[in-house]
Amino acid sequence: MSAVRFLVSVCLLCAAASCAQHMVARMYSPTGDTELHEALLARSTPGSPLFRQHMTMHELKQHVSASDECINTVKNWIAAHNGKDTTVGVLGDNVFFALPVNLPVDASQSHVKYGKLSHAVPSELQACVRFLFSFTGKSPRYAKRGVDASSSSSGSSGFPGMHQSPPTILHRYQIPATTVDQAVGFSQGVAEFEGEQFYQSDIDTYNTRFSVPNNSIRVAGPNKGGYFDEGVMDLEIIQSIASGAETWWLAEREFDFTTWTEEVLKISPMPMVLSISWGSGESGYDNASMQSDSDDFRKLGLLGASVLCASGDQGTGSTGFLSCGTFDPTFPATSPYVTAVGGTYANSLADTEVSWSGSGGGFSTVFPAPSYQQAAIDAYVANATMPPSSLYTAGGRGIPDVAALACNFDVFANGWGVETGTSAATPTFAAVISRIVIDRLKAGKPTLGLLNPVLYRSGHSVGFDVTEGNNQVSGCPAGFSAAVGWDAISGLGTPLFRVLSELLSP
Ligand SMILES: *[C@@H]1O[C@H](CO)[C@@H](O)[C@H](O)[C@H]1NC(C)=O
Ligand SMILES: *[C@@H]1O[C@H](CO)[C@@H](O)[C@H](O)[C@H]1NC(C)=O
Ligand SMILES: *[C@@H]1O[C@H](CO)[C@@H](O)[C@H](O)[C@H]1NC(C)=O
Repeated sequence: MSAVRFLVSVCLLCAAASCAQHMVARMYSPTGDTELHEALLARSTPGSPLFRQHMTMHELKQHVSASDECINTVKNWIAAHNGKDTTVGVLGDNVFFALPVNLPVDASQSHVKYGKLSHAVPSELQACVRFLFSFTGKSPRYAKRGVDASSSSSGSSGFPGMHQSPPTILHRYQIPATTVDQAVGFSQGVAEFEGEQFYQSDIDTYNTRFSVPNNSIRVAGPNKGGYFDEGVMDLEIIQSIASGAETWWLAEREFDFTTWTEEVLKISPMPMVLSISWGSGESGYDNASMQSDSDDFRKLGLLGASVLCASGDQGTGSTGFLSCGTFDPTFPATSPYVTAVGGTYANSLADTEVSWSGSGGGFSTVFPAPSYQQAAIDAYVANATMPPSSLYTAGGRGIPDVAALACNFDVFANGWGVETGTSAATPTFAAVISRIVIDRLKAGKPTLGLLNPVLYRSGHSVGFDVTEGNNQVSGCPAGFSAAVGWDAISGLGTPLFRVLSELLSP
């Protein structure tokens, strides 16, 4: 993700009373949180009797759809306050609505973060509604621009390592240089927000230069915001590394994963590999909003989709305006239901990979370490020189899970440019997963769902274990170092196609 993402998102503040209209009530589901968590782990952990027996949409609905009684309670509340446009979400646990005037909620208990307002749930709704959100309803304004022209000259972008493009990625990760034979019903998608836009002609130009077959991108959501940057790169990478795979642009105006997930769930067949290069430090979000978004990623996993998220470009991240308060790991990468992707660089095709200093990594302040990675974290903490314990949350979910090359990717967006970030690493890793899923579908096997419990199996490798580098770039007195095995800058390492296919094969 580019640093721009961080800067732009904090400008969305808006007074709770003046502009909150479009709202979501997140309802309680009949199956509890702990049970849904266990249900996903049972489907993602080798040896479990339910391993990879993903839920059907019908089955998921039975677990997460709110009761008719609760839906009526919410509808009546909306009607009593002159609200309108009521729609029940795809799975019946989100009610989207509009209130024409000020919200009948306690504004003093409302938190505004990233264009999303979390409200205290009014007492009359508390039996049914778990979270209540509204949105600023305003799309941020961007200057129209292509990829960063200042970094587009032939060499010095200020980021380490050689340029990357489809041939160098295929070479390094030993990915077959073939167009995939599209499996029936498979598709992959990139998540975009806040005015991102792409032109098919830019994708065509990129593909022509790298001898990748043209790929007609399918579009869900807006594609007209005038910001040609993140989204163009995400598409160019994912559809060239998994060339030939059906690819979706999955966009929302607001940076909100609840609305985004609802849109993804409406696509049939649903994209089974999802690449998300968006996020920000956990301190920028309200807890309720992170919990709710994470629950949505869990739904996608229960249906058999693999969700990959960029681990961030600020190293450890930090809170504190002028000095380092504490580290600030990136959400949604810190959700236990996604695979967080960190970044590396290489100086030549022959060189080993080194962890990029900007690679987001650390320990969540909100989500506890899930069981699947506890042993890996324990081994790291026991052996690594750790930063002062006051800076990070011991016991938190560790990120990233894996990594891929992140520096100096050639991108075409109304001109050639170069982009750096875990934004590039994420569609790269996601595309490798897509190729593996396509091979599986053709062999009559199920999709992969949540990858992490399989990735962390002890005694296995994802490919290349990155052991050099440190992510001290955020003005804090220390960062996390790469190490043998899992570490909090490059995770378990970068992929080698056959090794990762083998690891994911059970
Ligand atoms: C791909 O699209 C470009 C631009 O539309 C076109 O010039 C080129 O011939 C196309 N290539 C193939 C193989 O269809
Ligand atoms: C965040 O919310 C979850 C679930 O609602 C709760 O269990 C947890 O204690 C909260 N965490 C913080 C840091 O407030
Ligand atoms: C620490 O590192 C040493 C040497 O690499 C290794 O033998 C040992 O198993 C490691 N300890 C843990 C807890 O991983």
